[in-house]
Amino acid sequence: MSATTDQHPRLTPVDIQRRKSGPPVVCLTAYTTPMARLVDQSCDLVLVGDSLGMVLHGLPSTVGVTMQMMILHGQAVARGITQACLVVDMPFGSYEAAPDQAFRNAAQIIAETGCQAVKLEGGAHMAETVRFLVDRGIPVMGHVGLTPQSVNALGGYKVQGRGKEAERVARDAAMLEQAGAFAVVLEKLPAELGTRITAEIGVPTIGIGAGAGCDGQILVLDDMLGLFADFRPKFVRRYAEMGLTAAEAIAAYAEDVRAGRFPGPEHSFSESRAT
Ligand code: KIV
Repeated sequence: MSATTDQHPRLTPVDIQRRKSGPPVVCLTAYTTPMARLVDQSCDLVLVGDSLGMVLHGLPSTVGVTMQMMILHGQAVARGITQACLVVDMPFGSYEAAPDQAFRNAAQIIAETGCQAVKLEGGAHMAETVRFLVDRGIPVMGHVGLTPQSVNALGGYKVQGRGKEAERVARDAAMLEQAGAFAVVLEKLPAELGTRITAEIGVPTIGIGAGAGCDGQILVLDDMLGLFADFRPKFVRRYAEMGLTAAEAIAAYAEDVRAGRFPGPEHSFSESRAT
């Protein structure tokens, strides 16, 4: 049973797939209800990315993210989405062993969050699993290039697909399309490879650090809002400096408390939530 009570139809994976060579597909991540409400106003697709492990939970990589974490945040985001297509990441270890393992976990994510699709990482070696899910009614978004769940095998968060590696990444994307993925995320690739794959496959490519030639773009919301002072990936344009604004606000509050300028009961947490 779906966790949501939608009045308005959201965009579907089929709508996103039809955007190939149409208006660029606008995507962002979200992990909480309030942020989902904001993102939903401007985005076609909202991803509950497993980046939440690093962004929200302070993990050193996405490898430690669990099904429980994805479902909890997926449910929170679903409460804030009325129009965008909602996709939830499958966490590391929940889909790689076998197609039926992937089906059980993907079905649980969809049933318990009310999302419309799952995303999983990996190219040619995941094609059989993608086909298995798609044939059983689960729309899948692929993810090739830099696949952060494989950080231990890749030896870091490096640009992928340089030189001879380009052929392998292009083949990965093509195999996901053939397996029935409705869109494919291209992460950290040379811009010319992003453009090439976009021309070669028939479903939308969603770039993150893969150049402007993709059919759509995605960023981690907290990165583009500038919530972190110490983390500045080169490909992320900051649209705000919310980390600094928050630090200033917290410092101003601390100053007020220390100076005895404390608000009255009308500003208590429960009071302000109830109104
Ligand atoms: O986990 C994530 O947030 C992602 C993207 C940003 C593509 O996979």
